[in-house]
Amino acid sequence: MDEELHEHFTRTIERDQRVEPRDWMPSGYRRTLVRQIAQHAHSEIIGMQPEGNWITRAPSLRRKAILLAKVQDEAGHGLYLYSAAETLGVDRAELTDKLLSQKQKYSSIFNYPTLTFADIGVIGWLVDGAAIVNQVPLCRCSYGPYGRAMVRICKEESFHQRQGYELLMTMMNGTSRQREMVQDATDRWWWPSLMMFGPPDGDSPNTRQSMEWGIKRHTNDELRQKFVDMTVPQAEALGVRLPDSGLVYNPERGHYDFSEPDWDEFRRVLEGNGPCNAQRIERRREAHRDGAWVREAAAAHAAKQQQRGREAV
Ligand SMILES: [Fe+2]
Ligand SMILES: [Fe+2]
Repeated sequence: MDEELHEHFTRTIERDQRVEPRDWMPSGYRRTLVRQIAQHAHSEIIGMQPEGNWITRAPSLRRKAILLAKVQDEAGHGLYLYSAAETLGVDRAELTDKLLSQKQKYSSIFNYPTLTFADIGVIGWLVDGAAIVNQVPLCRCSYGPYGRAMVRICKEESFHQRQGYELLMTMMNGTSRQREMVQDATDRWWWPSLMMFGPPDGDSPNTRQSMEWGIKRHTNDELRQKFVDMTVPQAEALGVRLPDSGLVYNPERGHYDFSEPDWDEFRRVLEGNGPCNAQRIERRREAHRDGAWVREAAAAHAAKQQQRGREAV
């Protein structure tokens, strides 16, 4: 029986069909997905903090409305993803606990501070831009609920990317001080954005298995290259310099060559020693504590509804 189930799973993957929640799946496949989807959901939620930091200080009502909408979208992404993870038999409360006790991670990019309003534009341009490159292939993920959640998420991410770029364009057409702010923010976010694709392929032991399972479609280095190739012309159009003297077009490869990010810094931030790690987790814990009454009220309401439903029968 087990063998039959396994064969059915393998055939589903080979035919590029979707695995659905009630289908049998190897425990490693389930574990990998739970870890990846949870990490992704946590990133959406923690990712609200660096930008949320500027909502009250946005320079105009229009910019405030845009930023508010964007940060709200990220909350929505977190919710779709927690729901997708729940179809694998885990509970959202359990995942939240694992985030707060730091047993599960979120993207290292959100451990950097947002120092000026130009950071809001650069995050949209580079961070949401990198997220799109990472996430578009996930729309074809072999696990149905994850792939379908990603379709909606990617549509919103591309809006985020454009809003960031539009803000930067506006600033670049402004004063020299504004142009300096954009350049400074680009200098700070460029390398962490490249790190969003994860360690180099040689140090990414899970990639092969994830690709065989149809969870991942491209390696980290392939995606990083794609991002660089896509971003260079955008930087040129914007009139901003990317902070890498090794960045040059290689006609033989048909791609841009670029320097290696500082992988020691990447590991340091991942291990919890980035500029804002402690603050991000502490803020998330606080928000969770502050939200306790909402969860209690929602649970009481649901219990009452259920009770009424029973009485009506
Ligand atoms: Fe998002
Ligand atoms: Fe986004």
